[in-house]
Amino acid sequence: MINKLNELEKEALAKIAAAESINEINDIRIYYLGKKGEITNISKGMASLSSEEKPLFGQALNQAKVAIEEAINAAITNMEAQALAAKLAADSIDVTLPGKSFAYGSKHPITRVIDEIKEIFMSMGYEVVEGPQIETDYYNFEALNLPKEHPARDMQDSFYITPETLLRTHTSPVQARTMEQKKGAVPVKVICPGTVYRRDDDATHSPEFHQAEGLVIDENITMADLKGMLLTFARQMFGADREIRLRPSYFPFTEPSAEVDISCFVCGGKGCKLCKDTGWIEILGSGMVHPRVLEMSGYDPEKVRGFAFGIGIERIAMLKYGINDIRALFENDERFLKQF
Ligand code: DAH
Repeated sequence: MINKLNELEKEALAKIAAAESINEINDIRIYYLGKKGEITNISKGMASLSSEEKPLFGQALNQAKVAIEEAINAAITNMEAQALAAKLAADSIDVTLPGKSFAYGSKHPITRVIDEIKEIFMSMGYEVVEGPQIETDYYNFEALNLPKEHPARDMQDSFYITPETLLRTHTSPVQARTMEQKKGAVPVKVICPGTVYRRDDDATHSPEFHQAEGLVIDENITMADLKGMLLTFARQMFGADREIRLRPSYFPFTEPSAEVDISCFVCGGKGCKLCKDTGWIEILGSGMVHPRVLEMSGYDPEKVRGFAFGIGIERIAMLKYGINDIRALFENDERFLKQF
């Protein structure tokens, strides 16, 4: 029986040495040491041995079991270590490989100009306010002194959703909305950037574009305040040595109204291609808020006055960055956008 035991042990050790997986090792364990395993079976024959043989066989049996157990444990430890090493090798980082490059985005020139305008006006104490892009005829036109058959509506042909709702053609409706919200309180000092829409499409007009509206109302506001503020804005946006010029103009919601020019920042006013040899570049429309506009939104024109202005964002961006076709701003061509 001891011989048989020795043979089984040898056989088991050989199988363990040849095993290739932990599953295989577990099968070997069951085959030899399990309840119905070979070694277990042979141990049952101990009962038939003589009393001298029993301790010898018992000792041999224990030795065999221990030897097989140890071999199994060693094999499993070894396999686990190998598996870990293989996994680490597969996952390891080759620090000499070139790194992954990240594509950084950058701010769109329109966003940059809007941010800059917000900064400039916030530093002068203005509050940033926004309004809806789908607007009612009332706020877009009526409340701005542009009643139904007003000829100036023709300059702002829009996209109508219903006869009474449209995509706003300018940010001026935010003036009326703000005044209503402030319920006659002064001072009002807001800057309102946003997207606007018109039925226009060529190298200098886009059906979707952006404006920033400004509105200031207080008890003693004069056109001098408007001019001073515009000069500060022009110098911060286009350089410390800019001058401004106000030309008489017409807007239904302001009286008097003025177009505002800045001295050309390329030639300094001498005349060049950018300013078409005039020395001046038009940048925005403005004026003193029309008494009827104040009245319609709950302010008493006998007690308060205000000024307003509307800045075309694309125009500023095109001037500032030397862009000559407005459509480049909306094509999302990476080669163009990467330059900013
Ligand atoms: N809303 C005008 C437009 O889109 C721009 C404008 C002009 C706004 C004069 C104003 C203003 O607030 O006072 O053409």
